[in-house]
Amino acid sequence: AGVAVPRLLDRPARTGEQLVSQVPLPEPFRVPLPIPRTLDPIGSGPYEDRYEIVQRLGTSEIVPGLRTPIWGYDGTFPGPTIESTSGRTAIVRHRNELPVPTVVHLHGGRTPPDSDGYATDLVLPVGPNANTAAPHAGHGMHDPAAVITTGVRDYTYPLRQRAAMLWYHDHRMDFTGPAVYRGLAGFHIVRDATEDALGLPRGERELPLMITDRAFNEDGTFRYPSLDRTLGSGPGVEDDYVEGVLGDVILVNGAPWPLHEVSATRHRLRILNASNARRYDLALDPPPPGGGVLVQVGADQGLLETPVAHDDVPIAPAERYDLVVDFGRYPVGSEVTLVNRLGSGSTARIMRFRVARPGADDSVVPERLAEPDPLERGDAAVTREFSLRGGLIGDRHGWLINGEAFSPARIDARPRLGDVEVWRFVADLHHPVHLHLVNFRVLSRGGGPPGPHDAGPKDTVDLRPGESVELIARFDGYRGRYMFHCHNAEHEDMGMMANFEVG
Ligand code: C2O
Ligand code: CU
Repeated sequence: AGVAVPRLLDRPARTGEQLVSQVPLPEPFRVPLPIPRTLDPIGSGPYEDRYEIVQRLGTSEIVPGLRTPIWGYDGTFPGPTIESTSGRTAIVRHRNELPVPTVVHLHGGRTPPDSDGYATDLVLPVGPNANTAAPHAGHGMHDPAAVITTGVRDYTYPLRQRAAMLWYHDHRMDFTGPAVYRGLAGFHIVRDATEDALGLPRGERELPLMITDRAFNEDGTFRYPSLDRTLGSGPGVEDDYVEGVLGDVILVNGAPWPLHEVSATRHRLRILNASNARRYDLALDPPPPGGGVLVQVGADQGLLETPVAHDDVPIAPAERYDLVVDFGRYPVGSEVTLVNRLGSGSTARIMRFRVARPGADDSVVPERLAEPDPLERGDAAVTREFSLRGGLIGDRHGWLINGEAFSPARIDARPRLGDVEVWRFVADLHHPVHLHLVNFRVLSRGGGPPGPHDAGPKDTVDLRPGESVELIARFDGYRGRYMFHCHNAEHEDMGMMANFEVG
């Protein structure tokens, strides 16, 4: 009752409709793979490291010969990488010198609510580029609980969690899509002694890879079909793109289809899909004899119990795969392309590795990586159900959870601190669901056991059209209000987000 008719679904399918760049596409496999710089702390105490990041306008030469204006953490896309040790607090001071308000969320962080980057906890801009004439946050301003600061904010991350590759990105209500698209994303890698002792590839053989898709206007600016490019007051995407914005240029760490030379040894590829809406199915071409070249050692929230060998890995927005690839299985001189089996034409390829030289390899992939997750269905105090569907918000297309669009004022679930719960989601189309605060395990998919790619501790899980997924999580760490949402950034901006409150 009361659920709007999903008008969207009566229209011809537009999934996969992608923006067309107005520039000649860059030649693939020419640009070397950039590795984002690691941020040095500005100070450290016995239990903490302090960092400072300025969010500011920058430019990046992505299409050769053109300067693309970006919004960057420290002016770069991706932002600088923060490396932390589990249990040491990272305090990150963000200063907002962009034109618009921002919110920083550490995705995958077990973070107290006041530092989690709630969608209305704005940092208002300061400096010459700040546009103070415009309404700051659309209807986000109507949240009486919002904590709004001007210019700076200190985000405190206790990081009482296991080693994992987290990432930080913008999370402003209704505007996450355009802000992340312009460049507001970076890695935050958490390490711990257990993982360090395993002997996985390290140093230059550990590669963080942030995959995104973008399209470009003639002048080199990013093409984003927003109704109001900087300061609108509502969900700002043209109707044709309600299913999410897809570009025709694939970037890895901000570079188009880059090339990376490796020795014929094991490498650890820590892959993040930071695209707004595009899913990929990653594989290596050619596969080595015997297959199983993508050896998964970790998921979003850290190590698997045991490694799992794959020929391909599907990855939805915000998901991470921690993979070990043994380039020693290829003859020196081989060119190995990371391809996208879901793409066609320019989006069918991601980057290339050239096996340039032999190398001595002392890394290992142990048969046992981590302790099994002890949670079982019987531990759950509650099972909750959520539907993820297209629908109408007023007279506009939007995306709904249990028939409702996001409102900061409505709490949809109230887990008690320390309780284990099972959450069951059902989706109309692909929706990658993300929960803040907790890590979870996939309990079931489509009424059956979890799929081959569902292993390990996760914080984001992709639902396929018509599919249901159950996950199990313990809601501990902090009390307070947190968000859960679809991580298709346009779906999120168009309503597919809700709150839970740990009490
Ligand atoms: Cu990666 Cu709520 O976000
Ligand atoms: Cu969605």
